[in-house]
Amino acid sequence: MPSKQRTLVEIACKASADTLSTHLPLTYTPLLSTTSYSITLVPGPSLSSTLKSTIWKLYEANMRTLSEGSSMGWGPKEKQRELWHSDSRFVLLRPLRQQGDKGKGKAREGSRGGAEVAAFAMFRFDWEECMDPDWEADNCEVVYCYELQVAPSARRLGMGKFLVDQLILLAREYRMRKVMLTCLKVNTSALAFYKCQGFAIDPISPSQLARSAPSAAGGETLDGETEWEDEAECDYEILSKRVM
Ligand SMILES: CC(C)(COP(=O)(O)OP(=O)(O)OC[C@H]1O[C@@H](n2cnc3c(N)ncnc32)[C@H](O)[C@@H]1OP(=O)(O)O)[C@@H](O)C(=O)NCCC(=O)NCCS
Repeated sequence: MPSKQRTLVEIACKASADTLSTHLPLTYTPLLSTTSYSITLVPGPSLSSTLKSTIWKLYEANMRTLSEGSSMGWGPKEKQRELWHSDSRFVLLRPLRQQGDKGKGKAREGSRGGAEVAAFAMFRFDWEECMDPDWEADNCEVVYCYELQVAPSARRLGMGKFLVDQLILLAREYRMRKVMLTCLKVNTSALAFYKCQGFAIDPISPSQLARSAPSAAGGETLDGETEWEDEAECDYEILSKRVM
């Protein structure tokens, strides 16, 4: 790993929640809503047990059925290890107690008190394999979005887009190259959403590796199948959006 890349990711990972928060607004009011939401950035391990439980309930309500039917499966223990990992950073949108309340002081009050979560993104600053034709290194710096979850009652208000925009902003601020994520192919509404936000299938996504096979990855596996057949059948895509 080139040392410059390592340094950029290490700097970003070491940034405190307070420092990261300075790049984000304090509140967000969707155009079509009278409710304002506080924006809080919290490292996974610093979440209170109440917030962890709220986040988990939202994640389970949104993702359990989809995950159970996928190659990823439903593994609460493993998933919670990932969510509360020391490198994970959450951006939370929580309704302020009083409707239409946009003041800074009130935002802080709301972010301290409320355990209700309307939407959240969980990300890490990381290195990821890179196969972009114009990028000479094998890896690049990314904001990897592990989760983007909006409560069913809060959808189509712009919260998903708002959260993606904050990840792009942080990625630019810390000189990451892309925002990346993994999305199940059956999750067609999320795929449509990401497409709207300018994401495209990344060259390292299994479907793209399969396309470039057999020259790139077409070796035979032990069971006699070609690797690229496996990759073509993979039930997820890796999406990315370049930020610089
Ligand atoms: C996918 C998800 C994050 C989108 O969040 P959202 O807050 O509802 O989306 P936004 O309101 O910001 O949508 C912005 C734009 O994206 C597009 N979009 C959003 N949802 C869409 C959908 N279901 N189908 C097609 N386009 C969609 C629209 O163009 C929308 O703008 P519009 O409402 O003015 O037409 C949300 O539906 C969700 O949490 N789903 C369940 C969890 C999930 O699948 N997460 C992703 C895992 S990879």
